[in-house]
Formats: sequence, C-alpha cells, structure tokens
Amino acid sequence: MATQSASTSAAPAFWARSPTTLVAIVVLVILTSGLLFGYDQGVISGALSGIKQELDLSPLLIEVVTSWVTLGALFGSLAAGELADLIGRKRTVLAAAVLFILGALIQVSAPRTTVLVAGRLIVGFGVGVAAVAAPLYGSELAQAAWRGRLVSAYQMAITVGIFLAYLVNGALSDGADWRLMLGLAAVPGLLLAVFALMAPESPRWLIKQGRREAAGTILARLLGKDDYQAELSEIENALRLETNAVSWREVFQPVYRKPLAIGIGLAIFQQVTGINAIIYYANPIFAASGFATPQAQAAATTWGIGATNVLATLIAIAFIDRIGRVPLLLAGLVGMGVSLATVGFAFHFVETSGDGVSYGAIITVVALVIFIASFAFSLGPVVWTVINEIFPSRIRSRGVAIATAVNWGAAFLVSEFFLSLVEVAGRPATFWLFAALCLLGWIWVYRKVPETKGRSLEDIERLWRV
Ligand code: BGC
Repeated sequence: MATQSASTSAAPAFWARSPTTLVAIVVLVILTSGLLFGYDQGVISGALSGIKQELDLSPLLIEVVTSWVTLGALFGSLAAGELADLIGRKRTVLAAAVLFILGALIQVSAPRTTVLVAGRLIVGFGVGVAAVAAPLYGSELAQAAWRGRLVSAYQMAITVGIFLAYLVNGALSDGADWRLMLGLAAVPGLLLAVFALMAPESPRWLIKQGRREAAGTILARLLGKDDYQAELSEIENALRLETNAVSWREVFQPVYRKPLAIGIGLAIFQQVTGINAIIYYANPIFAASGFATPQAQAAATTWGIGATNVLATLIAIAFIDRIGRVPLLLAGLVGMGVSLATVGFAFHFVETSGDGVSYGAIITVVALVIFIASFAFSLGPVVWTVINEIFPSRIRSRGVAIATAVNWGAAFLVSEFFLSLVEVAGRPATFWLFAALCLLGWIWVYRKVPETKGRSLEDIERLWRV
C-alpha cells in the first residue's frame, strides 16, 4: 500500500527555517492555553479548604464547586467544534481567553456560593473550548514531522500549569487566600488574549471559507515564498470534496466509524486508568499511605506528582515523532498498570499490618512517581496528539470536540466517584481496578490504534479508506 504521500516528503521546511515571530506566536498560543488548562486542573485541591471555611459549604456544594469546572469543560468542548468552524480557530482561542478572564474575576469577587459556582462553570467552559481549539489550531499549522511535538508541548504546558498550581497552593496554603489562588488564572488568560490577537488564522480553515488569498498570504509568511504553493495545493486537494458544512449526524456515519472509535476509546482510557484521581486527590492518598503532616503530603504532591509529570512529558516530546505513538502508549500502559497494582498492594499491606505504615508510604510514593511518569510520556501527550490527527478534515473539528467531551465526561465520572468507590470497595480494590483497566487499554491499543508517526494529515485520511 503506497500511502506515503508526496506531501510528507515534499513538505516545505516549515519548522526547519529560522523561527519567525509568527511561528513563535503560534507556539505561545498553544502553550498558554495548556498552562491555563493545567492551572485550573491543579488549583482547586489547594483552594477548597479556604472556600469551605469562608462560605460554609455542605458536602454536596463542595462537590459542585470542585466538579462544575469539569462539567463546564464538557459543554465548552462540545461548543468549541462548532465555534471553531464558524468563527475560525484563532477567534475561538480568543473567546476561550475571554471566558478564562471573566470566570477568574467572578470567582475572585464571589460574595456567595452561587456566584462562585457560576464563575467555576464559566472558567470550565473556557477550559473546554481551549482544550479543543488550541491543539486543533496547532495540528493544522504544523507539518507532519513536528505535529506530534507541538501537541506534546501543549500537554507539557498543561503539566506546568498543574505544577504551578501546586506551588501556588503550597505558598498560599493559609485558607483565606483562596480568592488569590483562583484569581491568578486571569494573568495567563490575559496573555492568551494578547497572543491570540497577534496569531495568524489557520490556512486550512481559511481555504474552507473560500478565502484562498488570505490563506496563501499566511502560508507564504509561514513557509517562505518558494515553498507555500505545494502546501496550498495539498490542503485544497484534501478539502476539495467538502462543499457544505457537516452535521453532527454525519460524524457518526459508518465511513468515519474507525477514527471516531479510536478517538473516543483513547479519550476514555486516558481517564479511566486513574490520572485525575491522582491529580486531584494526591494529598489524601499520601495521607492514607502514611505521610503524617500536611507539609509532607504537599511536598510529595508538588514534587512527586507535579514535577515528575512535567519532566516525563519532555521524554514524549523528544521521542513521539521518532519512536511513534503506539510504542509509547503500550510502554506507558505497562508502567501505569504495574505501579497501580503496586499501590493496591501497598494499601493492602498498610491496612492489614498496623505498623507497616512507613513502608506503605515509601512504596506508594515510589509507585505513584512511576505511575505519573508512565502517564506523562504516553497517554498524557499521545492521546491528544492522536485525537488531533486521526479525523478526516471534513469532520475534524467535530470529531475532536466529541473525543474531548468524552474525555471530560470520563474525567468527571472518575473524580466524582473515586472517593465513593474507595468507600465501597476499599483502596486496594480501587487501585487494582485501575490497573485492570490499564491491561484492557493495552490490548485495545495494540489491536486497534494505527501508527500515525510521520504521516501528513491528508495521508492519515487515506488510512480510513482502505
Ligand atoms: C489529561 C488531564 C490530566 C493531565 C495531567 C491531560 O492529558 O487530559 O485530564 O489532568 O493530562 O497531566
């Protein structure tokens, strides 16, 4: 099957040129979006105790304040596909930035819980919109050889955001500062707005709108005057069959079944293998395994989870376009499964032998560091990369939106029910369940996910036609 398209080999040396300001801005848009996403993921674990004290929340409202960001993100990610097609990728990112700033300001000044929840929902909506629009934007502007690394860089920015939030949580751990913790998200929100205003629109989207000249101008600025024609024709060829807007129903047609199943499957496995149970509840997990003081728990969370997450993501950035997506996914799932099973055994040990607490703590922290490292070089970045490259361009923005919404839905369920599951089934069984899901994920990836390394988006599109 001769699928190696001319576009890959004849691709203009987009990134090989000395980086232009325009390219730097594209990268900054993507990185700042990721940073905001991560900050909002990480900050609530630190802010919650202050919020509880000041607003006197019931247990139900605590859950609402925590989880409605995820709910907002779910709806935001569904709306983002539509928005990205309607007003363009660049303006959609701008809209997300405005939502971040607005939501952060509402939270800072919230006089009561309902207003705070409204702020959380708006920020969540922004998170969902950015989570769809920024990687989509990046994948449409990057050449095949760099696409993986660019979307991985987005993932790294998420991890840096989580890490920064953990640091802020530690520094402002005096409950009263929760407003500042949440409000600080407005700063990168403002930066994102400025970068988005300076950024170029995606040429693919412009061509879709019939604005060939505008697309040509941007491609020429990005690729150089000699090289852009080939890319312009390649994009046009891929878009030729597209005459009218796609409906949601079309996305579910049999012809798109394979990429849709892969996108949704990856989105689910990324979450049901437990990542956000660890991100949100690392402190209580460390407490239960034997870390006695809040300081010790916070240090284990910030450095064991937060910093490891950032560092291991660098491995993915270095290797995703060399080793490929599938080997990284398979290796990561092995590391995650083994370490989760080990945490289960450590808890079993802690629970059955009263004086084994310090061993339990050591084993748990080592195993969780291995878990987070394994996630960070595999499922974290690779899932978003593959989701952003597998859909045929006709349905790409909708497909990405669906997969992202499913991802948020799964994240919502795991973070909502993790504590109840621990209550009902116990800690060891909960972690063994996550480990079993890693095994299931491994088998599924091995059998279903094709390698997309080094293929142009048009090339990947041809994969589904066979
Ligand atoms: C996931 C998030 C997770 C983060 C951790 C992302 O890829 O989508 O749910 O919190 O990785 O780094």
